[in-house]
Amino acid sequence: MFPKEFLWGGATASAQYEGGFDEGGRGKSQLDFIDFISVEKRIGNQCTDDVSWERYKTIRENESEYNLPYRRGADFYHHYKEDIKLMAEMGFKVFRMSISWARLYPTGEEETPNPEGLKFYHDVFDELHKYGIEPLVTMIHYENPVHLTEKFNGWESQKMISYFVKYTKTLIDEYKDKVKYWITFNEINATLCTPFVSSGMFVEKSQKNKLSCEYQALHHQLIASALTVKYAHETAPQCMIGAMIARLECYAETCKPTDVLANMIDDQINLSFFDIMARGSYPKFLLNYFRDNDIIIDFVDNYEQILKEGTVDYLAFSYYMSYVVSAEPGKAEAPGNLVKSLVNPYLKQTEWGWGIDPIGLRITLNRIYDKYQLPLFIVENGLGAKDVLEEDGSVHDAYRIDYLREHIKAMDKAIDDGVELLGYTSWGCVDLCSASFADMTKRYGYIYVDADDYGNGTYNRYKKDSYYWYKKVIESNGKDLD
Ligand code: BG6
Repeated sequence: MFPKEFLWGGATASAQYEGGFDEGGRGKSQLDFIDFISVEKRIGNQCTDDVSWERYKTIRENESEYNLPYRRGADFYHHYKEDIKLMAEMGFKVFRMSISWARLYPTGEEETPNPEGLKFYHDVFDELHKYGIEPLVTMIHYENPVHLTEKFNGWESQKMISYFVKYTKTLIDEYKDKVKYWITFNEINATLCTPFVSSGMFVEKSQKNKLSCEYQALHHQLIASALTVKYAHETAPQCMIGAMIARLECYAETCKPTDVLANMIDDQINLSFFDIMARGSYPKFLLNYFRDNDIIIDFVDNYEQILKEGTVDYLAFSYYMSYVVSAEPGKAEAPGNLVKSLVNPYLKQTEWGWGIDPIGLRITLNRIYDKYQLPLFIVENGLGAKDVLEEDGSVHDAYRIDYLREHIKAMDKAIDDGVELLGYTSWGCVDLCSASFADMTKRYGYIYVDADDYGNGTYNRYKKDSYYWYKKVIESNGKDLD
């Protein structure tokens, strides 16, 4: 069922992939100060917590004593030609990447962008086009100049809007002829789970309660996104600008109406970001939720008009697993992507305890498309696993092939159901640093990178079994999944 022009590819993010953190005039981002989360500090394979102000300060003052893997990523900065060649050999039509804000504006406050930073991304886009690969660019994938975190407490401050829009206008002006597909914010809803990682702010430093602080930051991001979309529509009408969420497809634990209602509310909140970014206004249920939960937001002047004028062209989301919701508090929970979930007894789980649910992907595609009637793009999906590099340079990752095959079948069925799906970029197509633990142990790629959690290794690239498999999938436009 896949249309001829379907965009097959893979996804990455600069903070987790790029490395070169102190080269080319790049400033530091807040993620450069997250240390490797060792096994001892993990609870049930879930990252113990977002980074606190105290923890951040300690690392900041003693940088050299910490293992800071985000700084290294998988060293795309020095390997981009090789990586793109490998992607081209696999047949990629699209490559999702993000731009490091601090590489273009080292502190965020400069008046003009760093020319070396601009050149680096020009080179990357040129290399992609050499092979006919379309870049799909996330303007911000969690990564903020750390200077803005320290000076303004990140996105809690309204000041972030103008710094961000200066940066995104640069992106559009500079790259509009090389990049057609854009996403403003990666998983915009993630601030509700990881405010430091996603918004570069410390909730404990705010005068507001936790939810107010988070929704305040989100309000600023939604405004910044809408202003960016408006600018792109006016100056680069050939581009398509998307919204993105971490999709938390959820099921009620039972058919008890209270469980079904609790599930409905979780789902409404998860999709509320699409309501705002695609329809251009805050939905009534979200304003009621603010009222009922003591969430106070200082709305930006003229925000209603700004949101209306900056609605997106397509909807992108990540999908790794589904969730189970109960109205009764205190039930045992399993780890998940961003949030924990009740265990779904009908699903198998990954090594990290994430419930594998390809049917949930078909459900989610239908649900989102039915509601918004906009083209969709799956920009993250995949299996994190501990791969083993054999002596002969092979990696046998049949488990990953099984996972991806079932999800691709689900996409195929959803397209047959009538969903308009632009493309599929599976996560971490080249191994990169994981977001939850800042480690290299949890890998997603078709291409293995020889680097461990401590930065030891050659950083050489090796093709996994899934590499050859995905090449066939793309060649046959999704028909040959064996
Ligand atoms: C998504 C993020 O939520 O999940 C990625 O956008 C992240 O940045 C991915 O890497 C997988 O999570 P993890 O923790 O397994 O790396």
